[in-house]
Amino acid sequence: MNASIISQLSSFDIAIDLGTYKTSIFVRGEGIVLEEPTLICLRNNEYVQGSVIAIGDEARSIYGKEPENVITVKPLRGGVVEHLEATKLLIKSFARKAKWLGRLRKPNVLISAPFAISNIERRAVRDVAASISSRSIGVIEEPIAAAIGCDLDIGGSQALMVVDAGWGITEAAVISLGGIVHCESERVGGEVIVHSIIEYFKKAYALQIGERTAASIMRVLSDFDCDFENEMSVRGMDVASRLPMLRHFKLEELRGVIQTPLASIVRTIKRTLENTPPMLSADLIENGIVLTGGTALLKDFDTLIESHTGIPVRIAQNPHSCVIRGGGSALDYLSQFKLA
Ligand SMILES: Nc1ncnc2c1ncn2[C@@H]1O[C@H](COP(=O)(O)OP(=O)(O)OP(=O)(O)O)[C@@H](O)[C@H]1O
Ligand SMILES: [Mg+2]
Repeated sequence: MNASIISQLSSFDIAIDLGTYKTSIFVRGEGIVLEEPTLICLRNNEYVQGSVIAIGDEARSIYGKEPENVITVKPLRGGVVEHLEATKLLIKSFARKAKWLGRLRKPNVLISAPFAISNIERRAVRDVAASISSRSIGVIEEPIAAAIGCDLDIGGSQALMVVDAGWGITEAAVISLGGIVHCESERVGGEVIVHSIIEYFKKAYALQIGERTAASIMRVLSDFDCDFENEMSVRGMDVASRLPMLRHFKLEELRGVIQTPLASIVRTIKRTLENTPPMLSADLIENGIVLTGGTALLKDFDTLIESHTGIPVRIAQNPHSCVIRGGGSALDYLSQFKLA
């Protein structure tokens, strides 16, 4: 067999972060090759390859404007697979897009999953990975991947704390000697915040706004330079007249609106701290808390956590990609995560 055929037959390693908001794929030796919304548009409500109209970025641009026979499915909810068939179709379509499905070479897959999931939910994650490869499959806990992805020394005896605040789920974990000592999880994240914003405009302005509009307002609140004194305009539908309407509001108004979901995340973090063995608490005070996940970018979120816990908080660099970068680095130790 010549070298080129051997290289075509040999396996390669990929990491997948299957998130409620976005899916990322990392190929060993190449880095992150795909980062797209976890969304799929299907024709006639049929969960078969031939009915896939759009995936990822393209599906996001269709979302909310679908013709009658097309539906957009969000396959995950609260960090876990809700529609198994839709998730498999999406991953297969991403694999096709990345041009490695159907080739002779099959990938070894390391897929991340939240720490606090049931056995059934874990099996669904494994099934998704198995749908694109018959080779080795491993699962890595998301807080561990997040910690590796922001270059924390997870193998040391010094305890550290990572809070991964994503779109559908937030996990607060204390890690020591390479493993999770305690982790609390709450199915709250950016999505709940977006829905709080939608509810606010309905109540305060009798204005129905779309999810995309609310998400773009949340992006403004996640901007490093965001000033709560600034005014913004928002378009929506007047609830009474059902006519399109433009309203002006001050970002300051939303400070209180996002407090409820943020308070729930803070409570999750405090539960983890309360359940951490006292011997490790000193390490946490010294090392601080590292925030990862896209929701970590929300303005003043770090200060809020600091004021409620008394522990210094640092936002990881590129927090939304820590889990996939960590999964990618963990490919070097794939056998440690392999499923039996
Ligand atoms: N590349 C990016 N640049 C800026 N913001 C981003 C990026 N990717 C995600 N976000 C923001 O992060 C939030 C989603 O967080 P994240 O990507 O961590 O969720 P997820 O991992 O898909 O969800 P979960 O872990 O809860 O299942 C969204 O508000 C989104 O706007
Ligand atoms: Mg995530």
